Amino acid sequence: MELKITDDGSHTLSIPNSSECYHSTHGAIQESNHVFIDAGLKFVARKSPDTLKILEIGFGTGLNALLTIHESIGQPIHYTTIEPFPISEALSAQLNYEKQLNVENGLFSKLHTSQWEKDCAITSSFTLHKTKIKLEETTFSHSFDLVYFDAFSPDTEPSLWTPEVFKLLNTKLHPESIIVTYCSKGIVKQALKDAGFKVKRLPGPPGKWHMLRARLA
Ligand SMILES: C[S@@+](CC[C@H](N)C(=O)[O-])C[C@H]1O[C@@H](n2cnc3c(N)ncnc32)[C@H](O)[C@@H]1O
Repeated sequence: MELKITDDGSHTLSIPNSSECYHSTHGAIQESNHVFIDAGLKFVARKSPDTLKILEIGFGTGLNALLTIHESIGQPIHYTTIEPFPISEALSAQLNYEKQLNVENGLFSKLHTSQWEKDCAITSSFTLHKTKIKLEETTFSHSFDLVYFDAFSPDTEPSLWTPEVFKLLNTKLHPESIIVTYCSKGIVKQALKDAGFKVKRLPGPPGKWHMLRARLA
């Protein structure tokens, strides 16, 4: 894995010998804020003052979790994240997100050093549950209000963007829940529709025309 600086100054990781990156090279923080925070967290948070249950597909660098704490202003959040291939703590320590966001020193490393397979209180209002398993093999014990679908692209991971996988998520959502993803490809839109979702195409972050938000009702 190689560290890269994206256009907004924040880091991403790139996979050697592949064009795949963990985020948009036009701006990692900018993309995550646009897709997951603005179109996801802020959209559902307005309607739900109770503990918000978030599921993330692909913990990766931990950027989405950090942004969620940064933006949630005290709303109680239970954050489940799935990651079969975690990055090393040494690599996570090189990522510049705390500095870029000017957040409390040590918060980001707490996300990476917290234990797997158990609930961990990261702040008084944010509980993290990391699980080292593949999405296709996961069974969930509770339902979710919001899903950050942040897997590698359908070209790299075609088996994750299928009606079967979205049907698996469908059973753990309620009518008001939403899924947000950076990917707006036709096959993804169709797979979501085939799994029973209503899909909305929204303007994308810089460098992408569109993103998707899906819900059951
Ligand atoms: C596009 S990266 C994004 C990660 C993260 N959200 C971030 O901001 O850094 C996709 C992530 O999905 C993970 N992944 C790969 N295969 C997976 C699978 N079968 N199930 C769940 N996650 C997977 C990768 O290891 C990687 O961390």
